[in-house]
Amino acid sequence: MSNKIERETDEIIERSFYEKYQDRVGWFVKGTNKDLLHNNSKELLKVLKENNILVNKENFKLLEIGAGGCRNLKYILDEYPKIKFYANDLHQAVSFKNMHESIKKVIRFYKGKTQDVIKEFSSNSINLLIDSNHLVHVNYTDTNKILDYINNTMKPNYFLVRSITIDVPMKKGCPYHKHNFNEKLTNYKEIFYKLSDNDKRWYIKIFKLNI
Ligand SMILES: C[S@@+](CC[C@H](N)C(=O)[O-])C[C@H]1O[C@@H](n2cnc3c(N)ncnc32)[C@H](O)[C@@H]1O
Repeated sequence: MSNKIERETDEIIERSFYEKYQDRVGWFVKGTNKDLLHNNSKELLKVLKENNILVNKENFKLLEIGAGGCRNLKYILDEYPKIKFYANDLHQAVSFKNMHESIKKVIRFYKGKTQDVIKEFSSNSINLLIDSNHLVHVNYTDTNKILDYINNTMKPNYFLVRSITIDVPMKKGCPYHKHNFNEKLTNYKEIFYKLSDNDKRWYIKIFKLNI
């Protein structure tokens, strides 16, 4: 993709993820997407449990990038209260407004773009990294840098991805990018794959550090 197209894409993405957007994805989401988003979070927890990824211990560290109001993390916290939770997103106050009280109390939240925040996490500092419907909205150049950092420096033990099987063109609103995670994650082995029960255009994958 040319730099010009990527810049235009970024402008659309920036407009899409204005502060009010957080009302549409947090714990208190209302309207047509409410059931889908909560079902997605439940599905994510189910997959993690089936693969025995989660450990209810203080030294188990979980980071969700682009987590908004941490709806996914709230479901995990309910069953694994000892885990240490980390998250980031573009806006802090509105993300907290859309967060359940219980996760608000324990989350360590970083305000900022994932491409910057990820560098705060050093080698082997995170047991499980989650990207749920987030990097699909980050351009190819930045996502490739993020994936390089994950693969070569950060090296979380596990990386769960909810992503899309098709590219959705820019004209239809906020663009979706069909990233090739497997190609970038050379130090990882894909240990799980399924199409989402809630929408077959989406898949869930788990990668495990292989070295
Ligand atoms: C579709 S929402 C997904 C929210 C949540 N992960 C979920 O599963 O419902 C995408 C999120 O990515 C955030 N986002 C978009 N670009 C970002 C970037 N470069 N860095 C951090 N967050 C970003 C948005 O603000 C939004 O909260």
